[in-house]
Amino acid sequence: MKALFTACFLLGLASLAHAADGPTLSEKHSCSSCHSATTKMVGPAYKTIATKYNADYKKNAKAVEAKLLAKIAKGGDGVWGSTPMPGLNVPAPEALTLVRWVLTQK
Ligand code: HEC
Repeated sequence: MKALFTACFLLGLASLAHAADGPTLSEKHSCSSCHSATTKMVGPAYKTIATKYNADYKKNAKAVEAKLLAKIAKGGDGVWGSTPMPGLNVPAPEALTLVRWVLTQK
């Protein structure tokens, strides 16, 4: 019985994590303190990022995802200017959800 409860609890957690969408995760991981969907703040607008990578993303989605996932994990500068983005400790599935969401901003 205890195992069943544990399984239900874990399933519940998994579906919660799954339900978290781009805007929620952007808030949760404080991305939104430096990024907005449409306006440049400390970092470029998500919309501007999506426009830059749009053509490459259609050709090779995996490569673009890998590049942006690495940026979130390690941080860095030089792509948009000299202000660096800090490396952030975002769980892999959430980082992927964020990257895919950012790339669909218009
Ligand atoms: C402290 C401010 C700050 C925070 C917090 C931040 N960013 Fe950034 N972000 C930046 C800056 C500055 C750049 C531009 C870096 C550059 O020029 O290479 C950037 C660039 C990016 C890029 C484009 C990377 C590239 O190489 O083109 C993506 C995607 C991105 N951020 C997503 C996120 C996500 C998702 C989060 C939250 C998990 C986040 N950022 C949190 C400041 C921030």
